[in-house]
Amino acid sequence: MQKNAMKGIVAGFNFHREISGNMTHTARKILVTSALPYANGPIHLGHMLEYIQTDIWVRFQKQRGETCTYVCADDAHGTAIMLRAEQMGISAEEQIKRVQQDHEADFADFHIGFDNYYTTHSPENKELSEFIYKACRDSGHIAERSITQAFDPEKNLFLADRFIKGTCPRCKAEDQYGDNCEACGATYNPTELINPKSAISGATPVEKDSVHYFFKLPDFENMLKEWTRSGTLQESVANKLNEWLEAGLQEWDISRDAPYFGFEIPDAPGKYFYVWLDAPIGYIASFKNLCARRDDLDFDDYWAKDSDAEVYHFIGKDIINFHALFWPAMLSCADFRTPTAVKAHGFVTVNGKKMSKSRGTFIQARTYLNHLNPEYLRYYFAAKLGNGTEDIDLNLEDFVQRVNSDVVGKVVNIASRCAGFIKKRFDGKLSDTVSNPALLDEVIAAGDQIAEHFENLEFSKAVREIMAQADKANQYIDEQKPWVLAKEEGRDQDVQDACSMGIHLFRVLCTYLKPVLPALVANAEAFLNIESLNWDDRQQTLTGHQINKFKPLMQRIEQDKIDAMLEVTKADAAAHAALQEKTNAKVAPAASNVEAIADEIEFDVFAKTDLRIVRIVKADHVKGADKLLQLTLDLGEGFGDKRLRNVFSGIKTAYQPEDLEGRLTVMVANLKPRKMRFGVSEGMVLAAGPGEEEIWLLEPHEGAREGERVS
Ligand code: 2FM
Ligand code: ZN
Repeated sequence: MQKNAMKGIVAGFNFHREISGNMTHTARKILVTSALPYANGPIHLGHMLEYIQTDIWVRFQKQRGETCTYVCADDAHGTAIMLRAEQMGISAEEQIKRVQQDHEADFADFHIGFDNYYTTHSPENKELSEFIYKACRDSGHIAERSITQAFDPEKNLFLADRFIKGTCPRCKAEDQYGDNCEACGATYNPTELINPKSAISGATPVEKDSVHYFFKLPDFENMLKEWTRSGTLQESVANKLNEWLEAGLQEWDISRDAPYFGFEIPDAPGKYFYVWLDAPIGYIASFKNLCARRDDLDFDDYWAKDSDAEVYHFIGKDIINFHALFWPAMLSCADFRTPTAVKAHGFVTVNGKKMSKSRGTFIQARTYLNHLNPEYLRYYFAAKLGNGTEDIDLNLEDFVQRVNSDVVGKVVNIASRCAGFIKKRFDGKLSDTVSNPALLDEVIAAGDQIAEHFENLEFSKAVREIMAQADKANQYIDEQKPWVLAKEEGRDQDVQDACSMGIHLFRVLCTYLKPVLPALVANAEAFLNIESLNWDDRQQTLTGHQINKFKPLMQRIEQDKIDAMLEVTKADAAAHAALQEKTNAKVAPAASNVEAIADEIEFDVFAKTDLRIVRIVKADHVKGADKLLQLTLDLGEGFGDKRLRNVFSGIKTAYQPEDLEGRLTVMVANLKPRKMRFGVSEGMVLAAGPGEEEIWLLEPHEGAREGERVS
């Protein structure tokens, strides 16, 4: 531990919670979860707010010496995932495996430190879901009755409202979803839609009866009234819950008919648990899976009715009903403990508006990571997060300004201003005394208030306080002016003292920023030549300590990186929309983000498409684009000055430029030229496949020649 790193050093105050043993701190046992992302799409910055918020809180608890465990998983079940797999031509199991790999890579690169990341499609979850269901059923809290629903006679499946489209009964807008009209805001039953169609097959739905299973939520009204009013929820959330409870609770439909990707309900062949039944149970299953590998974690300690552990669920404000009604009711029904608290946050907006594909602000986590340091976003979100459910705006101008001026300009600057002198003139050794103990004490004392803010999820307040301390440190250095002293005769000791003081202050600030900027602080720890900084380590002082060479800890954000990220996001959205339109794909809507199906086109419109065989004469990477290649295509002699075409194509994840040169493929030769950030694209090559490394360019038959028309 740090104590060893500081052997022989005059340490100010040695006060460790667990380590020294002279304070009797019994570590809290805390289990934390974030909502489980669906396994049918990529993580975007809207998701990242929650994982960053949770991760900061968890890192803070760990830094304080608490026993804190953070689990999550992919939410792998449901119709949308089943249809997505079908659309990709792969099994649902393969689909969820691929998506989970991508999700885990995104989270790891954003430094989200899960103790376990699992899937809801697991044996533990199946067993627990069956157990909880049977406990509810056997105690009389499950009802069974037949209901009538829309049914797709072509696909042979029941259609949830969002899988039905038609004309709005009120304003007559076409192409509206089964439960509400985006044009006039009307809400209705899918049966009221004019000319309803299945969004999956295009068939006209019919009505069909089927037996469903219901969880009798009203049986838990009293239990829920008590639970929701016992400090488990933020005030605004508790008020909302109150309204729902006063309006009266409804039974909850927990079954879906085959075909469905999920767990079959015990003793009910052909009936499956609705994805939202087994999703939160996935929290427990992920924890159980971890317990099997960790001797220090006992499942019952956390989930038995009399558990003294704390359990927190971090979620978005859109899924409060699932976490604050169904979930505690089911848990209590099955004799598990209920959560200590549910922490809901708001949504992310970009530049003041809802994230949108057409505005190019629906930024995927991977696209962000390809251009920017993850800790910029961690800092920015922390600087804006309070403990309420207000939306958080990612204002990109403010983002650049804030990160550059706070983290780079204030915090990193302290170390970079002092480190050079210490290294060059004093061989990396800090002074044996602290030159301004009062100031150091003041900055150390601020840690109690900062800790309280972190604990209460008031991250913006914590960050403000940390920056106020950083201002004091910079002011001290400005006053001491070591760069002036260094030029004066006989002032060596003063230079060493001032710079050492700057380093002491920097170290304390690093302690505070560690939950937010774990990678930066890990590098700072290496520079300071110390082991991992716990919260109370700030009380110690590195007098007489040897530090290492300083390396820049964070680069400033450059505007062109932001621009490139937005360009790629826009290009991705356009490519996605074009592909949809071209293939007239029947896309399975993701449950919370329904994608439109491209309109049908007449044959004569399609016949206008001029498909030509072309030779790829040149292929190059495009600077700043992670998915695009720049191709020069040759249509052959007959095309005169339109013979060579410059085309940008999103196939980089599947092809190396050198493998393409000389090959024949097929292009749309009469596509209107499109101006992109990287240049004008004069057509489009045809490719198919699920994406990433699985994209296949069309390959013409042997003997084909440039310029031939494809029919
Ligand atoms: O809304 C969603 O994205 C869900 N997949 C969240 C599930 S959270 C928990 F209940 F599993
Ligand atoms: Zn309408």
